[in-house]
Amino acid sequence: MGQPVNVGVVGCGAISAQYFQTIDRLPQLRLVAVADLDLDRAREAVRPYAGVDVLSVAELMADPRVDVVLNLTVPAAHAEVALQAIAAGKDVYCEKPLAATAADAARVLEAAAAARVRVGCAPDTVLGTGTQTARNAIDDGLIGKPIAATATMMTPGHERWHPNPDFYYVPGGGPLLDMGPYYISSLVTLLGPVASVIGAASRTRPKRTIGSGPRQGEEIPVLVDTHVTGVLVHASGALSTLVMSFDGVATKAPNIEVHGEKGSLVVPDPNRFDGPVLISGADGWRELPESAGYVGAGRGVGLLDFAATPVDQNVGQELRAGGSLAFHVLDVMESLLAAAGSGTAVTVTSTCERPRPVALHPSVS
Ligand SMILES: NC(=O)c1ccc[n+]([C@@H]2O[C@H](COP(=O)([O-])OP(=O)(O)OC[C@H]3O[C@@H](n4cnc5c(N)ncnc54)[C@H](O)[C@@H]3O)[C@@H](O)[C@H]2O)c1
Repeated sequence: MGQPVNVGVVGCGAISAQYFQTIDRLPQLRLVAVADLDLDRAREAVRPYAGVDVLSVAELMADPRVDVVLNLTVPAAHAEVALQAIAAGKDVYCEKPLAATAADAARVLEAAAAARVRVGCAPDTVLGTGTQTARNAIDDGLIGKPIAATATMMTPGHERWHPNPDFYYVPGGGPLLDMGPYYISSLVTLLGPVASVIGAASRTRPKRTIGSGPRQGEEIPVLVDTHVTGVLVHASGALSTLVMSFDGVATKAPNIEVHGEKGSLVVPDPNRFDGPVLISGADGWRELPESAGYVGAGRGVGLLDFAATPVDQNVGQELRAGGSLAFHVLDVMESLLAAAGSGTAVTVTSTCERPRPVALHPSVS
């Protein structure tokens, strides 16, 4: 094994702890520095880890040790922070969505191409055994030609548990931009890119109440639609029906089902790395053994995959959790919201390669 890839993290909020744990257990990655607008939060976040410098954002960008900037800021800051990293000549790996708008995401990808640095993006959950085993089953022809999928995400809203949930209810947030990246990245992995969309969306109430933390009881404005539905027409002809909601209370619908000419699959939660993949048969449903994907993975494994994809081979070999998939997913989501607004079908102008499959990869723990 060569030298580990040195990671500098910008944004030390709620999700950062999961990344720090993954980086800590992977010898291929090393956390060297963190930054946040709130330096106390950054100090607190890395307290369990020795030898990690707490820097200003500018200092982290200028730090020659940092190979890749891991951007864990809120969606509205994703593009700005990514562009700073690119301007500093560093690779960047971003939490989802790639940016708050497709226009901002396009600026990030253009700047990265010009600077010859790489852009990776969450979600990496779809590299785990759940989505990858389902994909393997489709590729092996176990359900025949895929015809359709359904994807359902229903929660009354993250403000119940997140202490600073404002970003979920401003542009760049909402159930589609927040949770859609998991579901649509999984659907593109399973069924390929999306060519057009139709949609409808609604909003139940103008304010939400924070349910935990120091701001508990505070009301925040809702500036985005909170129940979004639509149909994604894949380039293959398969149709995915999507329901993404911060309004519904509960659901028993599977996260994702894929239906083929010969059978159907239940695909586990794409916001998780693993979970049972079920296939229909004459005797009912049976569970498929894990056959593909990173075993025992945690958030940050996409960064491992990113680091393991050789730079020189990267011409013509897309990163799996890469910028072009993330851009396409964001474009699909924006197109869906445009379709919901106009009441007409919208052509998705971007496309991407179906990400390369992940072979069954031994435990990364
Ligand atoms: N919270 C979760 O469970 C979760 C899960 C998966 C993905 N994510 C994604 O991770 C990202 C961060 O979410 P979070 O829940 O950790 O948010 P958070 O609000 O808890 O933390 C974000 C941190 O980024 C910092 N920040 C914001 N703008 C900055 C800037 N310009 N420069 C430096 N620091 C800046 C904030 O001070 C804050 O500490 C989002 O894109 C979110 O969609 C969150």
